[in-house]
Amino acid sequence: MKLIFLGPPGAGKGTIADLAMQELGIPHISTGDLFRAAVKNGTALGLKVKDIMASGGLVPDDLTIALVAERLAEGDAKKGWILDGFPRTIPQAEALEKMTAADKVVNFEVADDIVVGRLSGRRMCKTCGKIYHEKNMPPKVAGICDVDGSPLYTRDDDKEGAIKVRLDTYRKQTAPLIDWYGKKGKLLTIDGVGAPAAVLQRFQAALKK
Ligand code: AP5
Repeated sequence: MKLIFLGPPGAGKGTIADLAMQELGIPHISTGDLFRAAVKNGTALGLKVKDIMASGGLVPDDLTIALVAERLAEGDAKKGWILDGFPRTIPQAEALEKMTAADKVVNFEVADDIVVGRLSGRRMCKTCGKIYHEKNMPPKVAGICDVDGSPLYTRDDDKEGAIKVRLDTYRKQTAPLIDWYGKKGKLLTIDGVGAPAAVLQRFQAALKK
């Protein structure tokens, strides 16, 4: 199964993808995670995208499309995938169609005020990338990852100014994809508000229909 997760920043795409991938047996491919790994490792790509990401803007399409093409060519992606954070522009969606077609596009709907609360409280593991929230999904020990004991950190783009830029960017450049995929008959719309287990259940029910 090939799935695209759409939705504003902080909609819970990464959280639900992590839960769903285990059940579906397909990899969760997050362009944000791939870019963050490149920044962490100080690669040439990482140096190019570091400041763009911190400001909340989008990485240029050509770099992003090349990164995804490379990742989708890996062996584990042959059986399917959940693409989280890609495509984010119409040219990216067109490029993906030329590589391979998604079966369904899942759009998680969450209002801006909830998104802001989720992003400002998000904490991530420095080593494994596991996602927490200081109030909604806290780790067992404050500031420490349950999985590997590494420290948690706040993403640069989860600061107030960058959150605003990301929401504006989402509205202008990514939200038009909702109609684009709707016209192709591939869109599933999910209410992304409520506990992750409830959102996951809605997603599973929509997929079965
Ligand atoms: P990316 O990492 O993709 O960021 P995003 O799309 O803004 O999405 P987020 O990761 O912020 O949110 P999410 O929906 O995954 O929510 P999460 O599950 O973490 O991209 C980062 C940057 O990389 C971009 O700004 C851009 O610069 C670049 N980039 C990436 N892809 C690109 C592309 N295709 N083109 C160009 N540039 C690209 O949850 C958020 C918080 O809420 C967490 O704390 C979580 O614990 C909590 N939470 C989640 N679900 C729930 C729930 N149901 N109830 C309560 N709390 C919840």
